[in-house]
Amino acid sequence: MKKILDIITAKMQAAFEEAGYDASFGRVTVSNRPDLCEYQCNGALAAAKQYKCAPIQIANAVVAKLNAEDYSMIEAVMPGFINLKLSGHFLQTYLEEMRTSDNFGVEKIGAGQICVVDYGGANVAKPLHIGHLRPAIIGEALKRLHKFMGYNTIGDVHLGDWGLQMGLIIAEVQERQPELPYFDPDFTGEYPQVAPFTVDELEEIYPTASGKKKDPEFSHKAHQATLELQQGRRGYRALWQHVMNVSVADLKKNYDNLDVHFEKWLGESDADPYIPDMVADMKARGVAVLSEGAWVVPVTEEGDKNEIPPMILIKSDGSAIYATTDLATIVQRMQDWKPDKILYVTDKRQNLHFEQVFRAARKSGIVNADTVLEHVGHGTMNGADGKPFKTRDGGVLRLETLISDMTDFVRAKVVENRIVADEDVEATTQKIAMGALKYGDLSNQPTKDYNFDMERFAAFEGNTGPYILYTIVRIKSILGKYGAWEHLPIAEPANEYAKELMLAITKFAPALESALKASAPNLICAYIYELAGTVNKFYHETRILGEENEELKAGYISLIALAKNILETSIDLLGFSAPEKM
Ligand code: ARG
Repeated sequence: MKKILDIITAKMQAAFEEAGYDASFGRVTVSNRPDLCEYQCNGALAAAKQYKCAPIQIANAVVAKLNAEDYSMIEAVMPGFINLKLSGHFLQTYLEEMRTSDNFGVEKIGAGQICVVDYGGANVAKPLHIGHLRPAIIGEALKRLHKFMGYNTIGDVHLGDWGLQMGLIIAEVQERQPELPYFDPDFTGEYPQVAPFTVDELEEIYPTASGKKKDPEFSHKAHQATLELQQGRRGYRALWQHVMNVSVADLKKNYDNLDVHFEKWLGESDADPYIPDMVADMKARGVAVLSEGAWVVPVTEEGDKNEIPPMILIKSDGSAIYATTDLATIVQRMQDWKPDKILYVTDKRQNLHFEQVFRAARKSGIVNADTVLEHVGHGTMNGADGKPFKTRDGGVLRLETLISDMTDFVRAKVVENRIVADEDVEATTQKIAMGALKYGDLSNQPTKDYNFDMERFAAFEGNTGPYILYTIVRIKSILGKYGAWEHLPIAEPANEYAKELMLAITKFAPALESALKASAPNLICAYIYELAGTVNKFYHETRILGEENEELKAGYISLIALAKNILETSIDLLGFSAPEKM
Protein backbone atom coordinates (compact mmCIF):
# COMPACT_ATOMS: atom_id res chain seq x y z
CA MET A 1 0.00 0.00 0.00
CA LYS A 2 1.16 3.51 -0.68
CA LYS A 3 1.84 5.74 2.28
CA ILE A 4 -0.57 8.62 2.83
CA LEU A 5 2.08 11.24 2.16
CA ASP A 6 2.84 9.63 -1.17
CA ILE A 7 -0.84 9.46 -2.11
CA ILE A 8 -1.61 13.06 -1.30
CA THR A 9 1.66 14.28 -2.76
CA ALA A 10 0.77 12.57 -6.04
CA LYS A 11 -2.64 14.22 -5.96
CA MET A 12 -1.12 17.58 -5.14
CA GLN A 13 1.37 17.24 -7.97
CA ALA A 14 -1.45 16.48 -10.37
CA ALA A 15 -3.27 19.59 -9.13
CA PHE A 16 -0.19 21.76 -9.70
CA GLU A 17 0.08 20.41 -13.19
CA GLU A 18 -3.59 20.89 -13.97
CA ALA A 19 -3.31 24.45 -12.73
CA GLY A 20 -0.45 24.97 -15.16
CA TYR A 21 2.53 24.67 -12.85
CA ASP A 22 5.33 22.19 -12.60
CA ALA A 23 4.33 19.03 -10.73
CA SER A 24 7.55 19.01 -8.72
CA PHE A 25 6.22 21.82 -6.54
CA GLY A 26 3.50 19.57 -5.17
CA ARG A 27 5.37 17.96 -2.30
CA VAL A 28 3.21 17.54 0.81
CA THR A 29 4.59 17.22 4.33
CA VAL A 30 3.15 16.43 7.72
CA SER A 31 2.04 19.74 9.19
CA ASN A 32 4.34 21.50 11.60
CA ARG A 33 1.29 23.34 12.91
CA PRO A 34 -1.01 20.52 13.98
CA ASP A 35 -3.30 23.13 15.52
CA LEU A 36 -4.03 24.43 12.02
CA CYS A 37 -3.95 21.40 9.79
CA GLU A 38 -2.75 17.82 9.39
CA TYR A 39 -0.78 18.14 6.19
CA GLN A 40 0.61 21.07 4.27
CA CYS A 41 2.18 21.98 0.96
CA ASN A 42 4.50 24.97 0.67
CA GLY A 43 5.22 24.47 -3.00
CA ALA A 44 3.36 27.60 -4.14
CA LEU A 45 5.97 29.75 -2.40
CA ALA A 46 8.79 28.22 -4.42
CA ALA A 47 6.73 28.14 -7.60
CA ALA A 48 6.00 31.86 -7.27
CA LYS A 49 9.67 32.63 -7.80
CA GLN A 50 9.79 30.64 -11.01
CA TYR A 51 6.48 31.87 -12.38
CA LYS A 52 6.96 35.42 -11.12
CA CYS A 53 3.58 35.86 -9.54
CA ALA A 54 2.07 35.97 -6.06
CA PRO A 55 2.26 32.64 -4.22
CA ILE A 56 -1.32 32.92 -3.00
CA GLN A 57 -2.49 33.12 -6.60
CA ILE A 58 -0.84 29.77 -7.31
CA ALA A 59 -2.07 28.26 -4.07
CA ASN A 60 -5.64 29.29 -4.90
CA ALA A 61 -5.42 27.88 -8.39
CA VAL A 62 -4.05 24.58 -7.12
CA VAL A 63 -6.60 24.28 -4.33
CA ALA A 64 -9.37 24.60 -6.90
CA LYS A 65 -8.07 21.48 -8.62
CA LEU A 66 -7.99 19.26 -5.51
CA ASN A 67 -10.65 16.64 -4.99
CA ALA A 68 -12.88 17.87 -2.18
CA GLU A 69 -13.84 14.31 -1.26
CA ASP A 70 -10.36 13.65 0.08
CA TYR A 71 -10.27 16.51 2.56
CA SER A 72 -12.40 17.93 5.30
CA MET A 73 -10.46 21.16 4.96
CA ILE A 74 -8.51 22.66 2.07
CA GLU A 75 -7.18 26.15 2.62
CA ALA A 76 -4.90 28.46 0.73
CA VAL A 77 -3.57 30.88 3.31
CA MET A 78 -1.28 33.90 3.07
CA PRO A 79 1.35 34.15 1.85
CA GLY A 80 0.77 30.93 -0.11
CA PHE A 81 0.51 27.87 2.10
CA ILE A 82 -1.88 25.08 1.32
CA ASN A 83 -3.27 23.56 4.52
CA LEU A 84 -5.07 20.25 4.51
CA LYS A 85 -7.13 18.05 6.75
CA LEU A 86 -8.04 14.59 5.54
CA SER A 87 -11.69 13.71 5.21
CA GLY A 88 -13.29 10.99 7.27
CA HIS A 89 -14.07 9.19 4.07
CA PHE A 90 -10.42 9.19 3.01
CA LEU A 91 -9.29 7.85 6.37
CA GLN A 92 -12.00 5.24 6.45
CA THR A 93 -11.03 3.93 3.04
CA TYR A 94 -7.35 3.96 3.89
CA LEU A 95 -7.71 2.18 7.21
CA GLU A 96 -10.09 -0.38 5.77
CA GLU A 97 -7.44 -1.23 3.22
CA MET A 98 -4.85 -1.47 6.00
CA ARG A 99 -7.16 -3.70 8.00
CA THR A 100 -7.72 -6.12 5.14
CA SER A 101 -4.20 -6.16 3.71
CA ASP A 102 -1.38 -8.51 4.48
CA ASN A 103 1.16 -6.76 6.79
CA PHE A 104 -1.40 -3.94 7.34
CA GLY A 105 -0.44 -2.76 3.88
CA VAL A 106 3.16 -2.04 4.86
CA GLU A 107 5.22 -2.43 1.73
CA LYS A 108 7.79 -5.22 1.87
CA ILE A 109 10.68 -3.08 0.79
CA GLY A 110 13.21 -5.81 1.57
CA ALA A 111 11.52 -8.46 -0.56
CA GLY A 112 14.02 -10.63 -2.40
CA GLN A 113 16.89 -9.45 -0.23
CA ILE A 114 18.85 -11.31 2.40
CA CYS A 115 19.87 -9.68 5.63
CA VAL A 116 22.26 -11.25 8.13
CA VAL A 117 22.06 -9.89 11.65
CA ASP A 118 25.17 -10.62 13.71
CA TYR A 119 24.14 -10.12 17.31
CA GLY A 120 24.42 -11.72 20.71
CA GLY A 121 28.16 -12.17 20.56
CA ALA A 122 28.27 -14.45 23.60
CA ASN A 123 31.53 -16.07 24.57
CA VAL A 124 31.48 -19.76 25.38
CA ALA A 125 32.44 -20.87 28.88
CA LYS A 126 31.41 -17.48 30.21
CA PRO A 127 27.95 -16.74 31.54
CA LEU A 128 25.98 -13.98 29.86
CA HIS A 129 26.37 -10.77 31.79
CA ILE A 130 24.51 -7.50 31.61
CA GLY A 131 26.73 -6.33 28.75
CA HIS A 132 25.03 -8.96 26.62
CA LEU A 133 21.55 -7.58 27.17
CA ARG A 134 21.61 -4.76 24.65
CA PRO A 135 23.08 -6.59 21.66
CA ALA A 136 20.58 -9.41 22.24
CA ILE A 137 17.53 -7.18 22.53
CA ILE A 138 18.41 -4.66 19.84
CA GLY A 139 19.61 -7.34 17.43
CA GLU A 140 16.48 -9.42 17.87
CA ALA A 141 14.27 -6.38 17.26
CA LEU A 142 16.18 -5.36 14.14
CA LYS A 143 16.02 -8.87 12.81
CA ARG A 144 12.26 -9.07 13.36
CA LEU A 145 11.79 -5.66 11.77
CA HIS A 146 13.75 -6.69 8.69
CA LYS A 147 11.72 -9.84 8.41
CA PHE A 148 8.47 -7.88 8.64
CA MET A 149 9.74 -5.59 5.90
CA GLY A 150 10.20 -8.56 3.61
CA TYR A 151 13.85 -9.48 4.00
CA ASN A 152 14.97 -13.04 4.35
CA THR A 153 16.74 -12.80 7.66
CA ILE A 154 19.49 -14.90 9.22
CA GLY A 155 20.41 -14.21 12.82
CA ASP A 156 23.88 -15.44 13.72
CA VAL A 157 25.09 -15.39 17.33
CA HIS A 158 28.76 -15.33 16.27
CA LEU A 159 30.08 -17.04 19.37
CA GLY A 160 33.45 -16.21 20.83
CA ASP A 161 34.59 -19.82 20.75
CA TRP A 162 38.15 -19.67 19.50
CA GLY A 163 41.45 -18.24 20.53
CA LEU A 164 43.23 -17.90 23.83
CA GLN A 165 40.16 -18.34 26.03
CA MET A 166 39.98 -21.92 24.78
CA GLY A 167 43.67 -22.52 25.41
CA LEU A 168 43.26 -21.21 28.94
CA ILE A 169 40.46 -23.67 29.64
CA ILE A 170 42.38 -26.58 28.18
CA ALA A 171 45.45 -25.73 30.26
CA GLU A 172 43.41 -25.39 33.43
CA VAL A 173 41.55 -28.67 32.93
CA GLN A 174 44.87 -30.35 32.30
CA GLU A 175 46.24 -29.07 35.61
CA ARG A 176 43.20 -30.37 37.45
CA GLN A 177 42.73 -33.70 35.68
CA PRO A 178 46.00 -34.56 33.90
CA GLU A 179 44.98 -38.23 33.69
CA LEU A 180 42.20 -37.53 31.16
CA PRO A 181 42.81 -39.05 27.70
CA TYR A 182 42.46 -35.65 25.99
CA PHE A 183 45.98 -34.82 27.10
CA ASP A 184 47.61 -38.09 26.09
CA PRO A 185 49.13 -37.48 22.64
CA ASP A 186 49.32 -41.23 22.01
CA PHE A 187 45.69 -41.90 22.75
CA THR A 188 43.95 -43.27 19.67
CA GLY A 189 40.69 -44.57 21.15
CA GLU A 190 37.32 -42.92 21.46
CA TYR A 191 37.08 -40.01 23.85
CA PRO A 192 34.41 -40.08 26.57
CA GLN A 193 30.92 -38.99 25.57
CA VAL A 194 30.41 -37.12 28.80
CA ALA A 195 32.11 -33.80 29.42
CA PRO A 196 34.61 -33.71 32.29
CA PHE A 197 32.85 -30.64 33.74
CA THR A 198 29.40 -29.20 34.27
CA VAL A 199 28.41 -25.75 33.12
CA ASP A 200 28.81 -24.42 36.65
CA GLU A 201 32.30 -25.87 36.89
CA LEU A 202 33.15 -24.43 33.50
CA GLU A 203 32.05 -21.01 34.65
CA GLU A 204 34.50 -21.31 37.51
CA ILE A 205 37.30 -22.86 35.44
CA TYR A 206 37.48 -20.04 32.94
CA PRO A 207 37.90 -17.09 35.34
CA THR A 208 40.36 -19.08 37.42
CA ALA A 209 42.44 -19.81 34.34
CA SER A 210 42.11 -16.26 33.14
CA GLY A 211 43.40 -15.04 36.52
CA LYS A 212 46.56 -17.08 35.99
CA LYS A 213 47.47 -15.40 32.70
CA LYS A 214 50.28 -13.51 34.39
CA ASP A 215 51.96 -16.74 35.51
CA PRO A 216 54.51 -17.19 32.69
CA GLU A 217 54.52 -20.95 32.83
CA PHE A 218 50.73 -21.24 32.76
CA SER A 219 50.45 -18.60 30.11
CA HIS A 220 52.90 -20.44 27.89
CA LYS A 221 50.89 -23.65 28.29
CA ALA A 222 47.69 -21.85 27.39
CA HIS A 223 49.20 -20.29 24.29
CA GLN A 224 50.63 -23.61 23.24
CA ALA A 225 47.26 -25.29 23.76
CA THR A 226 45.57 -22.57 21.70
CA LEU A 227 47.97 -23.11 18.85
CA GLU A 228 47.66 -26.90 18.95
CA LEU A 229 43.87 -26.67 19.15
CA GLN A 230 43.84 -24.49 16.07
CA GLN A 231 46.21 -26.87 14.32
CA GLY A 232 43.72 -29.63 15.00
CA ARG A 233 45.20 -31.70 17.81
CA ARG A 234 42.67 -34.48 18.29
CA GLY A 235 42.38 -34.53 22.07
CA TYR A 236 42.07 -30.77 22.29
CA ARG A 237 39.41 -30.69 19.62
CA ALA A 238 37.46 -33.29 21.56
CA LEU A 239 37.76 -31.29 24.75
CA TRP A 240 36.81 -28.11 22.90
CA GLN A 241 33.71 -29.89 21.62
CA HIS A 242 32.73 -30.66 25.21
CA VAL A 243 33.16 -27.00 26.16
CA MET A 244 30.97 -26.06 23.21
CA ASN A 245 28.21 -28.57 23.96
CA VAL A 246 27.97 -27.71 27.62
CA SER A 247 28.21 -24.00 27.12
CA VAL A 248 26.01 -23.58 24.06
CA ALA A 249 23.17 -25.53 25.68
CA ASP A 250 23.31 -23.12 28.59
CA LEU A 251 23.54 -20.05 26.36
CA LYS A 252 20.55 -21.24 24.34
CA LYS A 253 18.53 -21.60 27.49
CA ASN A 254 19.42 -18.06 28.56
CA TYR A 255 18.65 -16.52 25.19
CA ASP A 256 15.41 -18.49 25.05
CA ASN A 257 14.41 -16.94 28.35
CA LEU A 258 14.85 -13.56 26.72
CA ASP A 259 12.83 -14.69 23.71
CA VAL A 260 15.89 -14.18 21.56
CA HIS A 261 16.44 -16.84 18.93
CA PHE A 262 19.25 -17.36 16.45
CA GLU A 263 18.94 -19.17 13.15
CA LYS A 264 22.66 -19.89 13.19
CA TRP A 265 24.90 -20.78 16.08
CA LEU A 266 28.15 -20.25 14.26
CA GLY A 267 31.20 -18.80 15.89
CA GLU A 268 34.70 -17.58 15.40
CA SER A 269 35.86 -21.19 15.07
CA ASP A 270 33.69 -21.61 11.98
CA ALA A 271 35.50 -18.77 10.27
CA ASP A 272 38.89 -20.34 10.92
CA PRO A 273 38.97 -22.65 7.88
CA TYR A 274 38.40 -19.65 5.60
CA ILE A 275 41.41 -17.75 6.88
CA PRO A 276 44.32 -19.39 4.97
CA ASP A 277 42.86 -18.95 1.48
CA MET A 278 41.58 -15.50 2.24
CA VAL A 279 44.95 -14.35 3.52
CA ALA A 280 46.83 -15.95 0.63
CA ASP A 281 44.54 -14.23 -1.83
CA MET A 282 44.89 -10.86 -0.15
CA LYS A 283 48.65 -11.18 -0.15
CA ALA A 284 48.74 -12.27 -3.78
CA ARG A 285 46.64 -9.34 -4.89
CA GLY A 286 48.63 -6.86 -2.88
CA VAL A 287 45.67 -5.89 -0.70
CA ALA A 288 47.64 -7.03 2.35
CA VAL A 289 51.11 -5.62 2.79
CA LEU A 290 53.97 -6.36 5.16
CA SER A 291 54.55 -3.87 7.91
CA GLU A 292 57.04 -4.53 10.69
CA GLY A 293 56.66 -8.26 10.25
CA ALA A 294 52.87 -8.19 10.29
CA TRP A 295 50.47 -8.42 7.35
CA VAL A 296 48.17 -5.43 7.34
CA VAL A 297 45.51 -3.90 5.12
CA PRO A 298 45.82 -0.12 4.78
CA VAL A 299 42.30 1.26 4.90
CA THR A 300 42.60 5.03 4.92
CA GLU A 301 40.34 6.71 2.45
CA GLU A 302 40.29 10.15 0.99
CA GLY A 303 38.28 12.54 3.08
CA ASP A 304 38.84 10.72 6.40
CA LYS A 305 38.61 13.20 9.23
CA ASN A 306 40.29 10.92 11.71
CA GLU A 307 43.06 8.60 10.80
CA ILE A 308 41.93 5.00 10.43
CA PRO A 309 44.88 2.73 11.21
CA PRO A 310 45.50 -0.28 8.98
CA MET A 311 43.63 -3.48 9.78
CA ILE A 312 45.99 -6.11 11.11
CA LEU A 313 45.42 -9.32 9.23
CA ILE A 314 48.21 -11.54 10.53
CA LYS A 315 50.38 -10.57 13.48
CA SER A 316 54.15 -10.87 13.28
CA ASP A 317 54.00 -14.13 15.26
CA GLY A 318 51.82 -15.58 12.51
CA SER A 319 48.54 -15.55 14.39
CA ALA A 320 45.18 -14.27 13.23
CA ILE A 321 43.20 -11.79 15.35
CA TYR A 322 39.61 -10.71 15.98
CA ALA A 323 39.53 -8.64 12.77
CA THR A 324 40.87 -11.55 10.70
CA THR A 325 38.07 -13.70 12.03
CA ASP A 326 35.41 -11.14 11.26
CA LEU A 327 36.72 -10.74 7.74
CA ALA A 328 36.80 -14.50 7.20
CA THR A 329 33.27 -14.69 8.56
CA ILE A 330 32.19 -12.33 5.80
CA VAL A 331 33.83 -14.67 3.28
CA GLN A 332 31.77 -17.53 4.70
CA ARG A 333 28.55 -15.52 4.70
CA MET A 334 29.02 -14.32 1.13
CA GLN A 335 29.76 -17.85 0.00
CA ASP A 336 26.93 -19.57 1.82
CA TRP A 337 24.17 -16.99 2.01
CA LYS A 338 24.97 -14.14 -0.41
CA PRO A 339 23.52 -11.45 1.85
CA ASP A 340 22.59 -8.03 0.54
CA LYS A 341 23.04 -6.58 3.98
CA ILE A 342 24.95 -7.54 7.13
CA LEU A 343 24.14 -5.77 10.38
CA TYR A 344 26.42 -6.05 13.39
CA VAL A 345 24.99 -5.20 16.77
CA THR A 346 27.76 -4.74 19.31
CA ASP A 347 29.06 -2.20 21.76
CA LYS A 348 29.79 1.08 20.01
CA ARG A 349 33.36 0.93 21.29
CA GLN A 350 33.96 -1.62 18.54
CA ASN A 351 33.22 1.02 15.93
CA LEU A 352 36.77 1.38 14.67
CA HIS A 353 37.19 -2.38 14.49
CA PHE A 354 34.18 -2.69 12.21
CA GLU A 355 35.14 0.32 10.12
CA GLN A 356 38.48 -1.36 9.44
CA VAL A 357 36.90 -4.73 8.69
CA PHE A 358 34.28 -3.22 6.36
CA ARG A 359 36.86 -1.25 4.44
CA ALA A 360 39.13 -4.26 4.16
CA ALA A 361 36.18 -6.33 2.92
CA ARG A 362 35.44 -3.78 0.20
CA LYS A 363 39.04 -3.30 -0.75
CA SER A 364 39.65 -7.00 -1.15
CA GLY A 365 36.41 -7.59 -3.03
CA ILE A 366 35.07 -9.97 -0.39
CA VAL A 367 31.74 -8.16 -0.63
CA ASN A 368 30.04 -6.68 -3.66
CA ALA A 369 30.08 -2.95 -4.13
CA ASP A 370 26.43 -2.74 -3.15
CA THR A 371 26.51 -5.08 -0.14
CA VAL A 372 25.48 -3.06 2.88
CA LEU A 373 27.72 -3.52 5.91
CA GLU A 374 26.53 -1.68 8.96
CA HIS A 375 27.66 -1.53 12.54
CA VAL A 376 24.86 -0.71 14.94
CA GLY A 377 26.97 0.34 17.90
CA HIS A 378 25.07 0.53 21.14
CA GLY A 379 25.77 2.49 24.29
CA THR A 380 26.15 1.17 27.80
CA MET A 381 23.43 0.31 30.25
CA ASN A 382 24.34 1.91 33.56
CA GLY A 383 22.85 1.53 37.01
CA ALA A 384 20.00 3.76 38.21
CA ASP A 385 22.65 6.11 39.62
CA GLY A 386 24.22 6.54 36.19
CA LYS A 387 27.34 4.65 37.19
CA PRO A 388 28.50 1.41 35.57
CA PHE A 389 26.45 -1.54 36.73
CA LYS A 390 28.24 -3.64 39.34
CA THR A 391 27.26 -6.30 41.80
CA ARG A 392 27.59 -5.44 45.48
CA ASP A 393 31.07 -6.96 45.59
CA GLY A 394 32.13 -5.03 42.48
CA GLY A 395 31.79 -7.87 39.96
CA VAL A 396 29.86 -7.96 36.70
CA LEU A 397 26.20 -8.71 37.10
CA ARG A 398 24.96 -11.87 35.43
CA LEU A 399 22.17 -11.36 32.95
CA GLU A 400 20.14 -14.05 34.71
CA THR A 401 20.32 -12.06 37.93
CA LEU A 402 19.17 -8.87 36.26
CA ILE A 403 16.22 -10.66 34.69
CA SER A 404 15.23 -12.37 37.90
CA ASP A 405 15.48 -9.09 39.84
CA MET A 406 13.16 -7.45 37.35
CA THR A 407 10.83 -10.44 37.44
CA ASP A 408 10.69 -10.43 41.25
CA PHE A 409 9.94 -6.73 41.27
CA VAL A 410 7.09 -7.13 38.79
CA ARG A 411 5.75 -10.24 40.53
CA ALA A 412 5.44 -8.33 43.79
CA LYS A 413 3.35 -5.69 42.02
CA VAL A 414 1.18 -8.25 40.29
CA VAL A 415 0.50 -10.02 43.58
CA GLU A 416 0.00 -6.85 45.58
CA ASN A 417 -2.46 -5.34 43.11
CA ARG A 418 -4.31 -8.67 42.74
CA ILE A 419 -4.09 -8.32 39.01
CA VAL A 420 -4.79 -11.93 38.09
CA ALA A 421 -5.84 -15.22 39.65
CA ASP A 422 -3.09 -17.07 41.52
CA GLU A 423 -2.49 -19.58 38.78
CA ASP A 424 -1.89 -16.81 36.23
CA VAL A 425 0.52 -14.77 38.33
CA GLU A 426 3.65 -16.34 36.88
CA ALA A 427 2.75 -16.09 33.20
CA THR A 428 1.51 -12.53 33.59
CA THR A 429 4.61 -11.55 35.56
CA GLN A 430 6.92 -12.96 32.91
CA LYS A 431 5.24 -11.00 30.14
CA ILE A 432 5.18 -7.73 32.01
CA ALA A 433 8.79 -8.10 33.14
CA MET A 434 9.95 -8.83 29.61
CA GLY A 435 8.00 -5.85 28.29
CA ALA A 436 9.45 -3.61 30.98
CA LEU A 437 13.01 -4.73 30.35
CA LYS A 438 12.92 -4.68 26.56
CA TYR A 439 10.92 -1.51 26.12
CA GLY A 440 13.09 0.18 28.76
CA ASP A 441 16.07 -0.61 26.59
CA LEU A 442 14.64 -0.23 23.11
CA SER A 443 12.93 3.09 23.76
CA ASN A 444 16.42 4.61 23.93
CA GLN A 445 18.35 5.42 20.81
CA PRO A 446 20.77 2.46 20.46
CA THR A 447 23.89 4.63 20.52
CA LYS A 448 22.96 6.38 23.77
CA ASP A 449 23.89 5.15 27.22
CA TYR A 450 20.95 4.79 29.56
CA ASN A 451 20.27 4.06 33.21
CA PHE A 452 18.58 0.87 34.20
CA ASP A 453 15.81 1.97 36.53
CA MET A 454 13.63 -0.94 37.54
CA GLU A 455 10.91 1.14 39.11
CA ARG A 456 10.60 3.46 36.15
CA PHE A 457 10.73 0.66 33.56
CA ALA A 458 8.10 -1.37 35.37
CA ALA A 459 5.69 1.53 35.97
CA PHE A 460 2.23 1.10 34.46
CA GLU A 461 2.10 4.76 33.49
CA GLY A 462 4.45 6.82 31.39
CA ASN A 463 6.52 5.83 28.41
CA THR A 464 7.03 2.23 29.50
CA GLY A 465 6.51 -1.30 28.28
CA PRO A 466 3.84 -2.06 30.89
CA TYR A 467 1.87 1.03 29.78
CA ILE A 468 1.80 -0.27 26.22
CA LEU A 469 0.83 -3.72 27.47
CA TYR A 470 -1.88 -2.24 29.64
CA THR A 471 -3.32 -0.43 26.65
CA ILE A 472 -3.45 -3.65 24.65
CA VAL A 473 -5.02 -5.56 27.53
CA ARG A 474 -7.63 -2.87 27.99
CA ILE A 475 -8.65 -3.09 24.32
CA LYS A 476 -8.69 -6.87 24.47
CA SER A 477 -11.02 -6.72 27.40
CA ILE A 478 -13.44 -4.40 25.58
CA LEU A 479 -13.34 -6.62 22.51
CA GLY A 480 -13.97 -9.65 24.66
CA LYS A 481 -17.06 -8.03 26.10
CA TYR A 482 -18.30 -6.93 22.68
CA GLY A 483 -18.11 -10.33 21.02
CA ALA A 484 -17.22 -11.10 17.41
CA TRP A 485 -15.20 -8.14 16.17
CA GLU A 486 -12.80 -9.71 13.70
CA HIS A 487 -14.67 -8.80 10.52
CA LEU A 488 -16.14 -5.43 11.38
CA PRO A 489 -15.26 -2.87 8.70
CA ILE A 490 -13.71 0.49 9.56
CA ALA A 491 -16.17 3.39 9.77
CA GLU A 492 -15.71 7.10 9.28
CA PRO A 493 -14.41 8.81 12.43
CA ALA A 494 -17.30 9.70 14.72
CA ASN A 495 -15.45 12.30 16.75
CA GLU A 496 -12.16 14.17 16.85
CA TYR A 497 -10.56 11.53 19.11
CA ALA A 498 -11.40 8.81 16.65
CA LYS A 499 -9.83 10.90 13.94
CA GLU A 500 -6.66 11.42 15.96
CA LEU A 501 -6.48 7.69 16.48
CA MET A 502 -7.01 7.02 12.78
CA LEU A 503 -4.28 9.47 11.83
CA ALA A 504 -1.92 7.77 14.27
CA ILE A 505 -2.72 4.38 12.76
CA THR A 506 -1.84 5.62 9.28
CA LYS A 507 1.67 6.44 10.49
CA PHE A 508 2.51 2.79 11.06
CA ALA A 509 4.30 2.22 7.75
CA PRO A 510 6.29 5.48 7.86
CA ALA A 511 7.38 4.67 11.41
CA LEU A 512 8.60 1.20 10.45
CA GLU A 513 10.38 2.52 7.39
CA SER A 514 12.18 5.14 9.44
CA ALA A 515 13.12 2.55 12.06
CA LEU A 516 14.47 0.28 9.35
CA LYS A 517 16.40 3.01 7.62
CA ALA A 518 18.04 4.24 10.81
CA SER A 519 18.35 0.77 12.42
CA ALA A 520 16.52 2.34 15.32
CA PRO A 521 13.90 0.28 17.17
CA ASN A 522 13.37 3.34 19.40
CA LEU A 523 11.35 4.82 16.54
CA ILE A 524 8.92 1.90 16.83
CA CYS A 525 8.67 2.59 20.56
CA ALA A 526 8.01 6.27 19.95
CA TYR A 527 5.34 5.34 17.44
CA ILE A 528 3.46 2.92 19.66
CA TYR A 529 3.67 5.31 22.58
CA GLU A 530 1.90 7.89 20.45
CA LEU A 531 -0.58 5.34 19.16
CA ALA A 532 -1.34 4.08 22.68
CA GLY A 533 -1.87 7.69 23.76
CA THR A 534 -4.47 8.30 21.07
CA VAL A 535 -6.25 5.03 21.87
CA ASN A 536 -6.46 5.88 25.55
CA LYS A 537 -7.66 9.37 24.79
CA PHE A 538 -10.36 7.97 22.53
CA TYR A 539 -11.35 5.46 25.20
CA HIS A 540 -11.66 8.14 27.87
CA GLU A 541 -13.65 10.51 25.70
CA THR A 542 -16.00 8.03 24.06
CA ARG A 543 -18.61 5.68 25.44
CA ILE A 544 -17.73 2.58 23.52
CA LEU A 545 -19.62 -0.39 24.92
CA GLY A 546 -22.32 1.91 26.28
CA GLU A 547 -23.09 3.36 22.86
CA GLU A 548 -26.68 2.60 21.92
CA ASN A 549 -26.36 3.08 18.20
CA GLU A 550 -25.10 -0.34 17.10
CA GLU A 551 -23.58 0.94 13.90
CA LEU A 552 -21.56 3.58 15.72
CA LYS A 553 -20.52 1.04 18.31
CA ALA A 554 -19.34 -1.40 15.65
CA GLY A 555 -17.27 1.40 14.13
CA TYR A 556 -15.62 2.13 17.48
CA ILE A 557 -14.88 -1.51 17.99
CA SER A 558 -13.34 -2.05 14.57
CA LEU A 559 -11.15 0.98 15.12
CA ILE A 560 -9.75 -0.06 18.49
CA ALA A 561 -9.34 -3.60 17.21
CA LEU A 562 -7.14 -2.35 14.40
CA ALA A 563 -5.15 -0.29 16.89
CA LYS A 564 -4.72 -3.36 19.08
CA ASN A 565 -3.55 -5.49 16.18
CA ILE A 566 -0.99 -2.89 15.22
CA LEU A 567 0.20 -2.50 18.80
CA GLU A 568 0.53 -6.25 19.17
CA THR A 569 2.40 -6.57 15.90
CA SER A 570 4.70 -3.75 16.97
CA ILE A 571 5.58 -5.25 20.33
CA ASP A 572 6.19 -8.55 18.62
CA LEU A 573 8.75 -6.73 16.47
CA LEU A 574 10.28 -5.44 19.69
CA GLY A 575 10.39 -8.96 21.08
CA PHE A 576 7.68 -9.14 23.72
CA SER A 577 3.98 -9.89 23.98
CA ALA A 578 0.94 -8.93 26.03
CA PRO A 579 -0.70 -10.95 28.79
CA GLU A 580 -4.43 -11.63 28.76
CA LYS A 581 -5.09 -9.58 31.87
CA MET A 582 -3.27 -6.90 33.70
N1 ARG B 1 32.38 -12.01 21.28
C1 ARG B 1 32.62 -10.63 21.03
C2 ARG B 1 32.83 -9.89 22.36
O1 ARG B 1 32.57 -10.42 23.41
C3 ARG B 1 31.49 -9.97 20.31
C4 ARG B 1 31.26 -10.48 18.92
C5 ARG B 1 30.55 -9.47 18.08
N2 ARG B 1 30.37 -9.88 16.69
C6 ARG B 1 31.32 -9.86 15.78
N3 ARG B 1 31.07 -10.27 14.57
N4 ARG B 1 32.53 -9.43 16.05
O2 ARG B 1 33.27 -8.75 22.33
